[in-house]
Amino acid sequence: MADRDSLKREAAARALDFVSHGMKLGLGSGTTAEVFLELLGPRVRGGMTLDCVATSERTAAQARALGIALGDLDALAPLDLTVDGADEADRALNLIKGGGAALLREKIVAASSKAMVVIADESKLVARLGRFPLPVEVVAFGHGATAARIAIAAAALGYADLAVTPRLADGAPVRTDSGNLIYDCAFGAITDAAALAAALSAVPGVAGHGLFVGIATTLVIAHPGEIEIIAAPTPAAPVPRAGSAAPAGG
Ligand code: A5P
Repeated sequence: MADRDSLKREAAARALDFVSHGMKLGLGSGTTAEVFLELLGPRVRGGMTLDCVATSERTAAQARALGIALGDLDALAPLDLTVDGADEADRALNLIKGGGAALLREKIVAASSKAMVVIADESKLVARLGRFPLPVEVVAFGHGATAARIAIAAAALGYADLAVTPRLADGAPVRTDSGNLIYDCAFGAITDAAALAAALSAVPGVAGHGLFVGIATTLVIAHPGEIEIIAAPTPAAPVPRAGSAAPAGG
């Protein structure tokens, strides 16, 4: 039976079929995206030309180490495609992201892309989002008050007694690449992702949240022995090219 790492690798490998020479490409963050970069590196070194934008400092460092040149989102947007992982995805292509604290840049880059391909092992595909605590990125100034307002906004939508927990690492608050803090919000089950996304975005002090609604265009889900492609009905999702995506030497 395939383990999760093998499934991540299979999803990442399949995503290469969506990448073609000359593309402007957003590079996601997290362990699945890292595997995608590992597989992309030889294509680039083999002659594939890409203009890439990283969604985190960690991804940027990995890309540089692999010989993948990076550019500036402002100069390159709109990108053709972003490939990224997810913490949860449903069949309507709503996502929870931010387990790696990169959600704000991930969303900026994905929203600046014509398409977003999400790569994941089957454990990430859920009937309903919310078992994974939703990461919310909060500006440091007044973050405790902002956290309280997040709970109030959630209660207005029927999520009573929401646990809103500051994320710590080694006892200290986690800081994002943008210098903000993360609060993890244990919704349990999210009944209306679009409504919750709008409510969270409206809270002053919230820099971003990990609900991605209407952004992903294709899910590439690895099951043991099978890759499932789930595409958004509209607009047209990118179609993987047949055969190898590398021009040569990949
Ligand atoms: C990073 O902030 C996240 O959004 C990741 O994309 C997400 O947590 C998936 O990560 P893994 O691929 O490591 O599960």
